[in-house]
Amino acid sequence: MFASQQLLKLVNVKKSASFFRKQLLQWAKKQEDRDMPWKGIKDPYKIWLSEIILQQTRVEQGRSYYLKFVENYPCVEDLASADEEEVMKLWQGLGYYSRARNLHTAAQYIVNECGAEFPTDYEGILKLKGVGPYTAAAISSFAYNLPHAVVDGNVYRVLSRFYGIDTPIDSTAGKKEFQLLAQETLHPKKPAEYNQAIMDFGATLCKPGMPDCSSCPMEEACQATGTELLRLLPVKEKKLKKKNRFFYYFVVKDKDGLFLKKRMEKDIWQHLFDFPMEESNVHLKPKEILQKRLDAIQNLSLEHVATSKPYKQVLSHQNITAYYLEMKLTESAPTEWGENIYATQKELEKYAFPRIVERYLLDKSLISMEA
Ligand code: ADE
Repeated sequence: MFASQQLLKLVNVKKSASFFRKQLLQWAKKQEDRDMPWKGIKDPYKIWLSEIILQQTRVEQGRSYYLKFVENYPCVEDLASADEEEVMKLWQGLGYYSRARNLHTAAQYIVNECGAEFPTDYEGILKLKGVGPYTAAAISSFAYNLPHAVVDGNVYRVLSRFYGIDTPIDSTAGKKEFQLLAQETLHPKKPAEYNQAIMDFGATLCKPGMPDCSSCPMEEACQATGTELLRLLPVKEKKLKKKNRFFYYFVVKDKDGLFLKKRMEKDIWQHLFDFPMEESNVHLKPKEILQKRLDAIQNLSLEHVATSKPYKQVLSHQNITAYYLEMKLTESAPTEWGENIYATQKELEKYAFPRIVERYLLDKSLISMEA
């Protein structure tokens, strides 16, 4: 590109950015219906909790998790001194459990290494385990009004449409381009207001699929409105290929309880509880498993009593199918069985389970729905 063309592009971006941010803030002022318990708060600890929770779930579901966390751990010292099992239990259902472990570790770091003072600048916040550029920008702008633009899925969509940019958002060039553009578009004096507004705008008006262009105050300057670009942007380079995994769980029980296994491997659901199991990357009939592959339950005298229906759970990179093979102990439960833990039915309530296991236990009335 010639230098003069580059200059023209820069001038255009600056003009459009100024129009965009002005319209966006005016739009946000008129929205009253997106009431969220973390909106407008200045406590960096609570903002951090809300942002980590909202990386995992939508606002509607995130609300109750946020309120539970704030009630149980009103300040960072409370979270730091909490029991890991308890933190995982509060997080149960949100998925991606390393986020909960990182929250706990980072709270301990703040207490032990920072005198229980939450870091007050972008770089300090970025050092917290589990905090990336998006979360650091959100916390530093919301809590301290520092001029850092958030760039998440919503922002990629809104900016790629408005400016008509098709650079793939998962390429190095794309990430850099959108980060610069977001920073250019940010309201320099009102970063907190602006960041909250662009999130709300992306979630409620400039939505994936069909946005509500007729109510959009930026429509006249938007490159994508009324065109195919609405459907095509933002562009992603790589198509995600999901892995299929089949879990065959052995639910070994006697009349009082059953055996659980804590997941310690470097894999999904680390530190949550499930059962001894066999895994396959192709679908096998549960009967074949029972006939061939009993390593997980060797040395026990068992009777197979039932096989569950398949339970499915879709994760971002994998599709899980689980079968539960119910096995009755024909002798009394051994006091020790490898790393497995014997839990009575009453004790089951205190363990944190992956959603797919929780659904099975609920179906079997082995646990109850949490209030
Ligand atoms: N998603 C992530 N952070 C958010 C926030 N502060 N408000 C609404 N949605 C969000």
